[in-house]
Amino acid sequence: MARIVTVTINPAVDVSTTVDRVEPVRKLRCRAERREPGGGGINVARVISRFGADVMAVYAAGGVTGQMLHGLVEREGVAARQVAVAGMTRESFTVLDETTQDEYRFVLPGPELSEPEWDACIEEVQRLASRDDYIIASGSLALGVPEDFYARLATAAKTSGCRFIVDASGPPLRRALEAGVYLAKPNLRELQGILDEPLEDRQSQVRACRRLVEQGRAEIVALTLGSEGALLVTRDAAWFSEPLPVKVMSSVGAGDSFLGALVWSLSTGGDCADALRCAVAAGSAALRAPGTQLCRPEDVRRLSPQVRLHPV
Ligand SMILES: Nc1ncnc2c1ncn2[C@@H]1O[C@H](COP(=O)(O)OP(=O)(O)OP(=O)(O)O)[C@@H](O)[C@H]1O
Ligand SMILES: [Mg+2]
Repeated sequence: MARIVTVTINPAVDVSTTVDRVEPVRKLRCRAERREPGGGGINVARVISRFGADVMAVYAAGGVTGQMLHGLVEREGVAARQVAVAGMTRESFTVLDETTQDEYRFVLPGPELSEPEWDACIEEVQRLASRDDYIIASGSLALGVPEDFYARLATAAKTSGCRFIVDASGPPLRRALEAGVYLAKPNLRELQGILDEPLEDRQSQVRACRRLVEQGRAEIVALTLGSEGALLVTRDAAWFSEPLPVKVMSSVGAGDSFLGALVWSLSTGGDCADALRCAVAAGSAALRAPGTQLCRPEDVRRLSPQVRLHPV
């Protein structure tokens, strides 16, 4: 069975809470806080680990918050390799205003990494992954990390026969696609950003994904469309998935749940249509839970058969 290795170069300790109302000056007495390990790759590893697959989270972390992060990852039973860095791991703070139901998400920049530090992450991933394994790079880059970081990982993955998956935005995503990846999971805004096209209708979205496949930039493009569903395009086929109707409790975690379930399904031999159904079910399952919560496999299994696909 193939192993899945995730990479998180700028992870975070995600703190979330709720308050009756967010307003200036007065002290905002919050309800009990939740602390969870976070950052794209770590979240994807948490999802995949819940499905029982062989997954390993590689992340750069440092300082007392880095230690806390490691404890939180361990508590979830996710296998991990921490690459020690000098700077202090960031925290993210999410507050739900109970009156308006608005969610406020504060994201800190995190530490600056030196070249030996980010290079050590690439080396660690290369050590852990071998032929036919999956490497998932997800999340924003830390300060000091070059914009071709994911492109370098993509090239290293290709050299060792691994399947490289990227979930990023802006120049790091563009550079990774130039290097060539197995799978890319942009959302619409991220794809619009790198192609500099409006992509307003489904046809132009499908065409844009097809072009990436035909140009050899990605074997599979999974374009998530938020409340509109998702598209999955390969060389031979393309599907549009309708969204599942959900009452959104929190929009945090939908993308990571989608990607985790997608790769888990592919890694167990599922075909692309099965994987897309599973991914859309996972994205919806994450939205039903408050705060930075990820999908649970039992919900994904229950919801998957309800997902409707259309060939495009
Ligand atoms: N409001 C919604 N209603 C129904 N389904 C949704 C909604 N938002 C997201 N989803 C589901 O979750 C999937 C992933 O969501 P989205 O496109 O928002 O990813 P993302 O922008 O990468 O999210 P994130 O902010 O977590 O990175 C969608 O393809 C869809 O199936
Ligand atoms: Mg995303």
